[in-house]
Amino acid sequence: MSAPTVVILAAGQGTRMHSATPKVLHELCGRPLVLWPVHAAQDAGAGTVVVVDSPARALEAVLPEGVQLAVQQRPDGTGGATAAAIASIRDDAPVLVIAGDVPLLSARTIAELLDAHAASGAAATMATTVLDDPSGYGRVVRDSHGAVLRVVETKADGDATAAELAIREVNTGIFAFDAPALRAALPRLSTDNAQRELYLPQVLDLLIADGHKVGAHVIADHREVLGVNDRSDLARVRALAQAAIHERHMLAGVTILDPASTVIDIDVRIGQDTLIEPFTSIRGHTTIGRECTIRCSYLIDCTLENGVNVGPFGYLRPGTVLREGAKVGTFVEVKNSDIGAASKVPHLSYIGDAHVGAGTNLGAATITANYDGRAKHRTRVGAGAFTGVDTTLVAPVSVGDGAYTGAGSVITEDVPPGALGIARERQRNIHGYSERATPSLDGDAPRASSQHGDPQ
Ligand code: UD1
Ligand code: CA
Repeated sequence: MSAPTVVILAAGQGTRMHSATPKVLHELCGRPLVLWPVHAAQDAGAGTVVVVDSPARALEAVLPEGVQLAVQQRPDGTGGATAAAIASIRDDAPVLVIAGDVPLLSARTIAELLDAHAASGAAATMATTVLDDPSGYGRVVRDSHGAVLRVVETKADGDATAAELAIREVNTGIFAFDAPALRAALPRLSTDNAQRELYLPQVLDLLIADGHKVGAHVIADHREVLGVNDRSDLARVRALAQAAIHERHMLAGVTILDPASTVIDIDVRIGQDTLIEPFTSIRGHTTIGRECTIRCSYLIDCTLENGVNVGPFGYLRPGTVLREGAKVGTFVEVKNSDIGAASKVPHLSYIGDAHVGAGTNLGAATITANYDGRAKHRTRVGAGAFTGVDTTLVAPVSVGDGAYTGAGSVITEDVPPGALGIARERQRNIHGYSERATPSLDGDAPRASSQHGDPQ
């Protein structure tokens, strides 16, 4: 048997999200909803994967290479969406249809559904689950012998009777089909229902009427097949996904002191014996090495080598690379910069578009002035260098290996290796100042001698 063709339905408007962004592009732990079933299908050994999109083709930009896009011209329901992918379906492989808004479905469950489908010889096998609160889902109607008869929809009033609403077994929106049977049934779907849409589950009724066998595969862990229709569902599903991500890292040797206050995206990698302290967010494709400590910080799309320290209150933006043993301290922001091994940016700095060598210390409040209002410019600081407190590095500029800058300097010209660059006003002391300008006792402005006469 050939690898299954997987069709992911994602052309719906997602009206219940109340969003300008298509529902399936909303992110779940750093990955758009639609890519969750795409990855699961690929992990389960899918052959062709087809994603059904609306004519706006908003999903095209996020789909990985090799995943096909089919367009459903009108939003006429899940049956219409499946029909839009028909050209990609081959007759010698089973077809797996997955709703694009059911993100937690695992590769293992997909494989189990396909096995159950193959073993039963049914023309269609629907994945179902039992929910305490089934509201919003299509209910599974069975006959007195337990055989599946059909699905009744409940999104709009009119499809289901009160007795059917009491059923707690629901359609998960995931089906395995025999390809020729699906191909033959799709054109016969009707819109004679409460929403005037083509309901994919009606394929089951048609197949049964044709004398085909139809089965159900009950998924024991209902959490895997929760659908996302609104933002409340999204939050619920996110909590489950986040807990699973935490668990994976903790079991691999990462200490997460307080998982409840820690956000870690799905594509983050973290090395063993790294400590993540509370109120930390690690987003995007961030990679963190072994034995790092991250305290109360926000990291996105950055790379930390082994033994790095961040925070408390660090903000590491895309393109940041912290080499082995580097330290980024309190109230420090780094963007698109490479900070050398064992180098330190301990306090109150902004480092953007910079390359900093190894063993360098950037003093408190060292700031790169990287943007002149039109373009970004690079700053280079060599190895073993030392910038004084409150140094402004006006890019493009470089500070050589082993060079220093004086505290409070605005460095606009390159500082050669080993030199000290000082760029600030020289101090001047005005003697006898306190005798000439004495603050008044009631806290008003100082009495100036010109107004009140010289006391001497
Ligand atoms: C659907 C099922 C319901 C099931 C539930 C499981 C139907 C008619 N109902 O209901 O039985 O319990 O999923 O989560 O199938 N889509 C399109 N084009 C469309 C309409 C929808 O591509 O014209 C896509 C959506 O983008 C979404 C998926 O199909 O990813 C499901 O659509 P949705 O409207 O969320 O269906 P439900 O009301 O949840
Ligand atoms: Ca849904």
